[in-house]
Amino acid sequence: MRTKTIDILLGILAGLTLICCTPKDETEKKIDALIGKMTLHEKVGQMNQLSGGAWLTESAAKGEVGSILNCVDPAEINAVQRAAVEESRLGIPILVSRDVIHGFRTMFPLPIGLAATFDPALVEQGAAIAAKEAVSSGVRWTFSPMLDIARDPRWGRVAEGSGEDPYLDAVMGEAMVKGYQSNGLAACVKHFVGYGAAEGGRDYNSTGITERSLRNVYFPAFKKAIDAGAMTLMTSFNDNDGIPSTGNRWLLTDILRDEWGFSGMVVTDWNSSGEMVAHGFAKDLKDATDISINAGVDMDMMSYGFISFVEELVKEGKIKESRIDEAVRNILRLKFDLGLFDNPYVDENGVQAYSAEALAAAEKAATESAILLKNDGVLPLKKGKTVLVTGPLADAPYEQLGTWAFDGEKDHTVTPLSSLRETFDVIYEPGLSFSRDDSSAGIAKARAAASRAEAVVVVVGEEAILSGEAHSLSDLNLQGAQSELISAMKSTGKPVIVVVMAGRPLTIERDLENCGAMLYCFHPGTMGGPAIAKLLGGDEVPSGKTPMTFLHTAGEAPFYYNHNNTGRPNTGTETLLKDIPIEAGQTSLGCVSYYLDSGYGPLFPFGFGLSYTTFEYRNISIDKTRYGTDDTIKIEFDLQNTGDFDATEVAQVYVRDLVGSVARPVKELKRFERVSLKAGETKHISIDLPVEELAFWNVRMEFAVEEGDFQLWVAGNSAEGEPVNFTVE
Ligand code: BGC
Repeated sequence: MRTKTIDILLGILAGLTLICCTPKDETEKKIDALIGKMTLHEKVGQMNQLSGGAWLTESAAKGEVGSILNCVDPAEINAVQRAAVEESRLGIPILVSRDVIHGFRTMFPLPIGLAATFDPALVEQGAAIAAKEAVSSGVRWTFSPMLDIARDPRWGRVAEGSGEDPYLDAVMGEAMVKGYQSNGLAACVKHFVGYGAAEGGRDYNSTGITERSLRNVYFPAFKKAIDAGAMTLMTSFNDNDGIPSTGNRWLLTDILRDEWGFSGMVVTDWNSSGEMVAHGFAKDLKDATDISINAGVDMDMMSYGFISFVEELVKEGKIKESRIDEAVRNILRLKFDLGLFDNPYVDENGVQAYSAEALAAAEKAATESAILLKNDGVLPLKKGKTVLVTGPLADAPYEQLGTWAFDGEKDHTVTPLSSLRETFDVIYEPGLSFSRDDSSAGIAKARAAASRAEAVVVVVGEEAILSGEAHSLSDLNLQGAQSELISAMKSTGKPVIVVVMAGRPLTIERDLENCGAMLYCFHPGTMGGPAIAKLLGGDEVPSGKTPMTFLHTAGEAPFYYNHNNTGRPNTGTETLLKDIPIEAGQTSLGCVSYYLDSGYGPLFPFGFGLSYTTFEYRNISIDKTRYGTDDTIKIEFDLQNTGDFDATEVAQVYVRDLVGSVARPVKELKRFERVSLKAGETKHISIDLPVEELAFWNVRMEFAVEEGDFQLWVAGNSAEGEPVNFTVE
């Protein structure tokens, strides 16, 4: 019998044989050879990213820039590539990047709108189309997807992400990474990490997220995207617990590299290395460079610190050249993997945009992203009716594209006004010239015009500039005189349909009271017009669901469905509360907190959205009452379309772990499925949920499923349904 020692020795020998005899990957050999030839100055050049185009040819020829951003002109891109490849000493191609956030030319709905579709296959298709268009212009790297969990609609960048839920965020992030990379556009997951939790929703602000919350809430989407092959990652601007992400070695090395095994490239956000000086975390740009590189950053976006100070820092022994080699290796690997060494050029006559496939997918996404928040029966509108179309966003082709629509073109955008004209007999009177317009003259004209119409469609919301980076708001009501426009329409006695196009969930409670129906579209992109016209006319049926909780007032933020419970029921204070009913389902969750002036629940819970039909969930069951940690929960239910329209419902599965070694959220989304049903049809749905997906970072900071009692809901939103009980043992 072999002894244990012999076994161990044999094991070590086998391991060594494997290391020595496995041929080194061809690419790695090429990278090593190239690094062997590079001067330190050339290495640092690769780590330098600059904004611009043809005027950077000199830097490219000197090997002083590794990547450019914000150039989308194929001729300019080729000029920079020529300088890098044909004139620089080592001929290393440039990596051309751009913020392709929700489409390149063909603009899809904002990412928050894409999240509202709950349709990852469509989101993946959209990302693949964006990649095709961007790559045809010479762009090979996008700074997307943004995976920041956003629980505060005051933060302008909620527009760019998938909202408040870690699971939905992870599913959508993975879909985008796959879509982009399937067509040769490297993805960049950002902003690592916690950027969306900025204090008060003020952009760039500090965060104070504990390690457990990072791991349970903010990390999962990044981990999933990395497991799906995301090639790059961007650090965030915020300091968390005093440490700016760009200088956080625990985050960028211990977690990202050592724990998750990320082998891609890490880039700073725009000057986020330099900004560590303003944070009071680095004494000057040189110190910031030292801190960033030693934390694990590979490439510097626009601080100029790396190109200015790395050589000195290496000479002074503050940065090891091996760390520089590692960074350069990550950058060169990306360039090899993208095929840039084989062909760095773009076909200047091959630009692709607005294909029939792209427009159809953009329209489908705009259709699926629209959330019906209210309908007293006015929708769908009968075709051919005389309709007054009013509101500042009814015919605003640039504004409906939303934030980060750099390359979208208003001339290719189809507005609701132009599409409604194809279906209805339209009278158009804008009422207000833009969302912040607070004049009343136009409102009076619209009011007069309403007397000639059978119904009124008011398209309101935010211009593109009101959401996005550095565009936080403290007041989330409709701006200008938009609410006055809606109430003026209501006073005409005509049925009023409000369509909202915005970059965030606005506080639209009073506007809801003044309309018969409200369709919430976020910024729907190039094909918003036909999508909205078909939805209003009943050719399509709304199926979008809220990816963020909708609030009564901005003062309620942050407010999210997957919160922990409080310890106190609200006894004795009900008489002080406004007459707002406790949300369905909230009572079963025990103690919920409240505001004296706005009540218990949100305006609309996460996952909410109406249809022109109704759905019934029946016979919800799970296959056992007791599960082992290796088991899979088999969830079954019947879903019936009980109304008159063929439609799609997003069925959602939520779970609660009743008692944990740390308190657990009152509900967590674990699965969802879009189910299409003909009028009257019933489908039997089965969903598998492995028990291991109930794991979380526990009191010992271990990722584990804890034994005990759980509840599970299947419903059409996060506030409905009756729990099914089970135990994990
Ligand atoms: C933003 C990033 C963006 C970068 C490049 C920064 O200001 O925070 O999200 O990718 O600029 O445009």
